[in-house]
Amino acid sequence: MTELRRPEPLDTRRHDRAAFDSGEPVLDEWIRRYAGQNRRRHTAATWVIADAEDRIVAYASMSITAIDRSAAPEEVVKGAPDPVPALLIGRLAVDRSGLGVGTALLGHLLATALELNLSAACRAVVVTALTPAARGWWERFGFRPLDGEDGLDLYLLTHDIEVTLRNI
Ligand SMILES: CC(C)(COP(=O)(O)OP(=O)(O)OC[C@H]1O[C@@H](n2cnc3c(N)ncnc32)[C@H](O)[C@@H]1OP(=O)(O)O)[C@@H](O)C(=O)NCCC(=O)NCCS
Repeated sequence: MTELRRPEPLDTRRHDRAAFDSGEPVLDEWIRRYAGQNRRRHTAATWVIADAEDRIVAYASMSITAIDRSAAPEEVVKGAPDPVPALLIGRLAVDRSGLGVGTALLGHLLATALELNLSAACRAVVVTALTPAARGWWERFGFRPLDGEDGLDLYLLTHDIEVTLRNI
């Protein structure tokens, strides 16, 4: 694999998105068509890992969100307001050529969550797994279902991020 850059914000003028292929067309279309407008509208920030030629090999988006107290486990809601402040990982995808980069990108997102938490607190990081199979990948890092065993909506308490970061 060619040399990869550290995670950086998507620059739609510089980064090459044309050939990005994660195997999930909906995620490939999002980085090409919607990531730029979400940034301009302040609804999602996209981070990318690119190679030396600025081709994107992995991306993820983050936004501020909130968790409905009525649908969350006790450890999420205890002592928290309604809704519970949280950080959303909206999308995460790795190009088929860059497999292995997903963990590094998630590590960056979780470190960013810890930093953000100091200036605007978030109780947890949440994500909706694309499929039941993808849920297994998130569970490797300590994410748990928000709403019962089989749900695809997952969370990781901010309190537990440091443990996850030590293990990846
Ligand atoms: C899921 C995805 C992000 C993983 O990216 P990646 O770069 O291959 O991830 P990593 O290399 O960091 O992690 C791979 C490890 O996770 C494991 N893994 C992969 N899929 C898994 C799953 N569904 N359940 C459990 N473990 C899984 C691999 O066996 C590998 O284990 P190893 O490190 O012990 O060899 C990537 O395959 C992808 O973009 N898929 C399509 C889009 C998608 O599903 N995105 C998830 C959004 S919800």
